[in-house]
Amino acid sequence: MTVEDRLQELLKLKEQAKLGGGPQRIDAQHSRGKLTARERLEILLDEDSFEEMDTIMTHRSVEFGLDKQKYYGDAVVTGFGTIDGRLVYVFSQDFTVFGGSLSEAVSEKITKVMHMAIRNGAPVVGLNDSGGARIQEGVVSLKGYGDIFALNVQASGVVPQISAVMGPCAGGAAYSPALTDFIFMVNETGQMYITGPEVVKATTGEEVTHEQLGGAMSNATRSGVAHFAVDGEEACLLEVRRLLSYLPANNLEDPPAVASSDDPRRRAEDMFEVVPEDPTRPYDVRDVILRIADDGDFMEVHEHYAQNVVVGFSRMASHTVGIVANQPLHLAGALDIDAARKIARFVRFCDAFNVPILTLVDVPGYLPGLSQEYGGIIAHGAKIIYAYTEATVPKVTVTLRKAYGGAYVAMGSKHLRVDVNLAWPTGEFAVMGPEGAVNIIFRNQLSKADDAVALRAKLVKDYKDRFASPLVAASRGYIDDVIDPRETRYRVIRSFEMLRNKTDSNPAKKHGTMPL
Ligand code: HXC
Repeated sequence: MTVEDRLQELLKLKEQAKLGGGPQRIDAQHSRGKLTARERLEILLDEDSFEEMDTIMTHRSVEFGLDKQKYYGDAVVTGFGTIDGRLVYVFSQDFTVFGGSLSEAVSEKITKVMHMAIRNGAPVVGLNDSGGARIQEGVVSLKGYGDIFALNVQASGVVPQISAVMGPCAGGAAYSPALTDFIFMVNETGQMYITGPEVVKATTGEEVTHEQLGGAMSNATRSGVAHFAVDGEEACLLEVRRLLSYLPANNLEDPPAVASSDDPRRRAEDMFEVVPEDPTRPYDVRDVILRIADDGDFMEVHEHYAQNVVVGFSRMASHTVGIVANQPLHLAGALDIDAARKIARFVRFCDAFNVPILTLVDVPGYLPGLSQEYGGIIAHGAKIIYAYTEATVPKVTVTLRKAYGGAYVAMGSKHLRVDVNLAWPTGEFAVMGPEGAVNIIFRNQLSKADDAVALRAKLVKDYKDRFASPLVAASRGYIDDVIDPRETRYRVIRSFEMLRNKTDSNPAKKHGTMPL
């Protein structure tokens, strides 16, 4: 056999591999409204950039007649390519081969690219579409999952790990995405759960559909497991590309700068119209973000979960910034358990990958209530404090209106090692809102007063005059400067520029003991 003959043979095998489980199963995949593993990679990666690996690897199982059913590449397509010219490692599960299920060979293919990603410092993107463990392989398949999970943990904080759930993702299979940094799900076709509807019915008697149990919106709104729920596979893959544009390739690099012609000094003349002076009137904090970011650029993370806070990536003066903000449109922007989990996770991701953090504060406090207390708001709420304090990246906080109580401290206050704290003239810093404060400290006087209503009004006014401004906080140095709201963009950019070479570290330790 000549070299040419061998090459031809190899090409033939590779052509066979491209057909996955065969034309019929590809048709079935399309009729389910799903693309094939390779079609997905074509959308995800830059044109002609994909280099496939282990194309002709096969499973080695002989049980249940599997020795007569072999497909080149088995149930996953793996390799590397580029997104906007930057290296990424990929694996894309092939549902047309044994339902994308995880065999020993599949796990070896996936862990091979993960090892490479860690060693070479580039993100891993996993496209998930799988019936879980290859049932015919038994414990060997479970071992394969264990190997992937362990590498997910090793890669955590070293390279960004992104998961897209584009089909079923059942059982233990859900734990690999769960160990990654961001999960995208496709509406209607992506589903993630520990046990399917049949098992749920048998165990608890609850009757639910696949979509209710583990659909994209269920996981994006209720559980918070999904960070993004997207209509359609193509849009989902384009969103993955977009997310990566904000991120560095690994923890030793800075995020890439993306040139913008937006003037850093651009003022937002209508800022006073966007944010009402009355601290009780709601507004959409995203309108503030859009006014201060480069060209209104903002990629919201966890848009549908814990909507009382907003987090996401943006750019200011061409550099990536992670933004955390209270959202007065929901629960008046108060912090609850879900919001605490959302903020702490985001802040820790930013810190791990050198993304500076901008915090926009307008918070009436932590949310009171039995369900919050029983749910552990004390432990969960503490996560915000932990995450901000631990973070060594540049941190800038702007208080737009209220900052009351524990939430004042938690939301990026100076006391948690935040570098620059600015406030608008409408900033209010106090232990609690005026009405609540007056009711407590003047309870006796109010109960004895002839005209309690008039007295309360006077006391509330006194309290507001004293505390409803940033002056006390500024006189103590807790606020570095009170700024013109219209100049927020420029002042934040200047602060981050000043912090560009910041170095900071935490005391030597194995790891902290965060209240998880
Ligand atoms: C082997 C599998 C498979 C699996 C599906 N297939 N799941 N083969 N192992 N786990 C095969 C089917 O036999 C079928 O083969 C093809 O994939 C497509 O499956 P369908 O059932 O026809 O597709 P669909 O109707 O779309 O349903 C998809 C599905 C369903 C919801 C994923 O197949 C299903 O429920 N599969 C089992 C899921 C499961 O319980 N997995 C184990 C989870 S526990 P043909 O030849 O007909 O094309 C787990 C433990 C991990 O994962 C623990 C780690 C710690």
